[in-house]
Amino acid sequence: SKPLEPWPYPSVIAHRGGGSIAPENTLAGLRCGFDHGFLMSEFDVKLSQDNLLIILHDDTVDRTSDGSGAAAALTYNELAQLDMGGWHSAWYAGEPLPAFSQFARFILENGLFCNIEIKPCPGREVETGVAVAHAVLKYWADGGVSPLISSFSREALAAFAEIAPAIPRAFLIDRVPEDFESILQSLGCQGINVNQKYLDEPTIDRIHAAGYRVCAYTVNDYRRARQLLAWGCDAIFTDELVRIPADIGAY
Ligand code: G3P
Ligand code: MG
Repeated sequence: SKPLEPWPYPSVIAHRGGGSIAPENTLAGLRCGFDHGFLMSEFDVKLSQDNLLIILHDDTVDRTSDGSGAAAALTYNELAQLDMGGWHSAWYAGEPLPAFSQFARFILENGLFCNIEIKPCPGREVETGVAVAHAVLKYWADGGVSPLISSFSREALAAFAEIAPAIPRAFLIDRVPEDFESILQSLGCQGINVNQKYLDEPTIDRIHAAGYRVCAYTVNDYRRARQLLAWGCDAIFTDELVRIPADIGAY
């Protein structure tokens, strides 16, 4: 079997910034993860209508803000007016939609790890991959552990890789496909991030034997988290920052 790709990342990752204890993909969430001992967070990045990189999961702002409409049709200034916290709880009312630069600054200032998921607005896969690559090269130029890049979009990953080939990448997919090795090889990825539901020990062993890493999303059950980590799963993503502590893999 091939040697495993180098992997400097922690084994537990706060999902969408700070999981479910704070509004997803906000600075308050990212801070919450840090305050709960999580040294690594995952978050979703896309382009605003005027080509600024922003942090947002869905194609529209409807579910996680007091506004409505497609992110692709809203300018950064319009997006920055939205309340991204009130839907979660009154405590977080008024929490703004972050620019990627604000997330990068917080991560670098605090010496944290991160997984940047490229989540393009439909049809903007290549330009989003390109924009994230330039931004990562700019913000991480003077140090910090390289972010892990991931995406469900092969086009976005390929566009990223062309500009920033040395930054580690993982291909996101629901289930591990039969031909995972050729996909990861052609994209130059170090790992694959998959839905935890379908992951079992033989599959983890198969991915490792091929020389690749495997992470599982989204693990919100304590026993399942212990099981996946005991099987050698390289990292789990969780929304449950209290029930699944950041050091769960250490004991
Ligand atoms: O990157 C892991 C996970 O975040 C992928 O699914 O929909 O939560 O972005 P989603
Ligand atoms: Mg995500």
